Amino acid sequence: MTTALLEVANVSRRFGSVRALQDASLTVERNSITALIGPNGSGKTTMFNVITGYLPADSGTIRFDGHDVTRAKPAILYRRGLSRTFQQARVFGHLTVQENLVVAGGFSVAQLFGRRVGRQDRERAAALLVEFRLSHVADLYASELSYGQRKLLEFAAVLMSQPKLVMLDEPTAGVNPVMIETMEQHIRQLHASGITFLIVEHDMNFVMRLCDPVVVLDQGHEIFTGAPDAVQSNPAVLDAYLGA
Ligand SMILES: Nc1ncnc2c1ncn2[C@@H]1O[C@H](COP(=O)(O)OP(=O)(O)O)[C@@H](O)[C@H]1O
Ligand SMILES: [Mg+2]
Repeated sequence: MTTALLEVANVSRRFGSVRALQDASLTVERNSITALIGPNGSGKTTMFNVITGYLPADSGTIRFDGHDVTRAKPAILYRRGLSRTFQQARVFGHLTVQENLVVAGGFSVAQLFGRRVGRQDRERAAALLVEFRLSHVADLYASELSYGQRKLLEFAAVLMSQPKLVMLDEPTAGVNPVMIETMEQHIRQLHASGITFLIVEHDMNFVMRLCDPVVVLDQGHEIFTGAPDAVQSNPAVLDAYLGA
């Protein structure tokens, strides 16, 4: 039986009187690059937080890779192969670039300084540094990197776990065009190697080049799922963006 990699069904989540997600559903097929778009405040980040276990849903179900993960904690999901980045890049500023990668592999900071990190993880970190052209900054503190480099480091870090699904929250926001190009190449290569992506992104050119299908959220509910070329001419989507 082949099932979708991720199935979110009828998920709702409120913050007080704000209904951030209302009966929202989406499916991420294996080996797709699925986009999740929608106006500001439409619930995209909340959807990411609910899927990855950072926030509990009030109702609804989430299945990942054949398992019910509706109430699973982030660490469990991470081990199962689901990893993510954050809208505001989260890296450890007081650790070096290389140390950030090793920590992302599931090691605590104490283990890091106790030098009990396995050879495999050190090698994987070294390979990612080369792949992401971060070798020359490997020994700098993450706080010394540019914003774009921090986004790239965070992206590299999610790959330490050998994930099946990578969720990126606005990967190109605040990133210069050259770095966006780099990011796009990495996504294409990783996709070709079998990794599935779910990407929240405001840059519509980026989405149209890279993603299929595109899911559109509006006021916490999905209003469209389809091919990128069908999105821009869909009346409901246009209404949502124009605030009609
Ligand atoms: N932790 C929170 N507490 C209160 N309200 C929140 C919280 N997170 C999100 N919201 C609200 O939920 C709605 C959806 O927000 P969000 O998921 O961040 O949207 P998007 O990522 O699409 O811009 C917004 O109205 C936002 O203000
Ligand atoms: Mg957001």
